[in-house]
Parts: sequence; C-alpha cells; structure tokens
Amino acid sequence: MLHDILSFADKTAREAGDILMGGFRSKDTIISYKSRTNLVTNMDRASEEYIVKKISGRFPDHAIIAEEGSRKETKGEFIWYVDPLDATNNYAHGLPIFCVSLGVYSRDMNCVVAGVVYDPFHDELFSAVKNNGAHLNGHSIHVSAIDDIGIAVLATGFPYEKENPEKNNLRQFNRILPHIQGIRRMGSAAIDLSYVACGRLDGYWESELCSWDMAAGSLIVQEAGGSVTRYDGSAADPEFPQIVASNGLIHEKILEFLAES
Ligand code: IPD
Ligand code: CA
Ligand code: CA
Repeated sequence: MLHDILSFADKTAREAGDILMGGFRSKDTIISYKSRTNLVTNMDRASEEYIVKKISGRFPDHAIIAEEGSRKETKGEFIWYVDPLDATNNYAHGLPIFCVSLGVYSRDMNCVVAGVVYDPFHDELFSAVKNNGAHLNGHSIHVSAIDDIGIAVLATGFPYEKENPEKNNLRQFNRILPHIQGIRRMGSAAIDLSYVACGRLDGYWESELCSWDMAAGSLIVQEAGGSVTRYDGSAADPEFPQIVASNGLIHEKILEFLAES
C-alpha cells in the first residue's frame, strides 16, 4: 500500500511541478497578499486544485489538509499534508528555489509514512517511505558526515511575523551564527529538509512552520539517517510548529544553542 501511495505521490508532485513551471517568471502569474510578508499566487491555487482532485479520485477514503484551504475529513487511516507550492515568495520573485511537498500521515502508526518533495526547476524529486530509506530521483541518499559544528553549514528560515522578537528567530540566529561555517536561507522549508537529507546541508532549524511545510521533508531526513526533533529534543510532529533536523552528529550542539538563546 505505501509503495502505491509513494508512486502516486511521485507522479502527482511531478505533474503539479509542471503546472508551477508553466507560471514561473510569467506575466500570467498573479500575486495577492495574505499579509505584507505572506504571498499567494494563482499558481499555488492551481497546483492545489490539481493535487486535491487527483488524491480524492485515487484514494477517496484519505483525508486532506492543504495550505490554500482544501480540507477533506474522512475516518480512513491516511492524511495527506499538501503544500502545493513551498516558497511562494521565491517563486513570485523569479528565484528558482521552490517545490511541491506531499506528506502522508498514518493515524494507525502515528507518524508520517510516505513523503515526496519535488523541485521542478532542477527536476529533483526527494522521496521516502517509512523504514525504506530516502531517495533523490530514485538514487539512495544519506545525510552528511560532518561532526564538528564549526565546519557545518546550516539553514534556517524567518517566520512571516518578522516584527515580533519572540517569533522572528533573530535571537537563535545570533546565538548560532558565530559558531558555524555558514548559514543559508533557502526560503523553502521542504527543500531545506531535503538538502539535509542528501548532505548538501548539515542541519536546519525553524519555528512557526505548518504541517504541510514539514511532513514530507521530516520523514525524508529520518530515512536518510538524520535526526528530527523539536527544539527541546522531543519527537517532531507535523502538527507542532517547530523543527530541528540534522545529520544527527551535530544535533545536540544545535539544541544546546537553541536552549541558550
Ligand atoms: C514558507 C517556506 C519558508 C518558511 C515559511 C513557510 P510557503 O512556505 O517554507 O521557507 O520560512 O515559514 O511558510 O508559505 O512559501 O508555502
Ligand atoms: Ca510552505
Ligand atoms: Ca505554500
């Protein structure tokens, strides 16, 4: 069953990615503002409509929670967390870092059991099934082997509520930055997590995230041999808006810095 779900998710994410590529850097893409810092486009909505229709057609008993408002309640085992376009801000500015993220949660197992993150600009599809490893375009991937945080490259993100010092991540950023080799702000939580999984990044932290940002990517990191927790080290959950992901070797050190900030 999970392998059926994964191959369907793979195909659907690629098709939604084609929809996004059709509107990328195009005058037909219309931007509107959920808030000053939080954008949405007609392409987010077109991608979501396509994905939700496909899931409902193929798996009518699966529940769906999608970012742009689609909700489907069922009593079935599986819930799909759908981010039809992760990194709308990049997309709307013509920056080629964005993706489709589909994570599937099992109510029976209480965890995410399948996930795909598809970056259509680079044609990279990251995927994982619980207990079956993580893959990039079908090839097995693994987290990095850096065990010294001093030479680690980390990513983070800054929430939409940028004026609120309790939430804007500046304290954490300032505490960690002097102690690492470099920091990146990719602008896509799902790509940050996928890059930790394949060893391009050594770690990542962010708060104020939503289930659809993290569900697929967190499984991909775990299946690539990495660690994924909340800031206090307890188990990550897609419904809890906080995540630390790493290669495992520098995880405790990141948690220490976050605790001190
Ligand atoms: C956002 C991206 C970004 C993260 C934000 C998310 P969206 O998703 O993942 O990296 O910093 O918190 O909301 O809104 O572009 O789908
Ligand atoms: Ca997102
Ligand atoms: Ca989104």
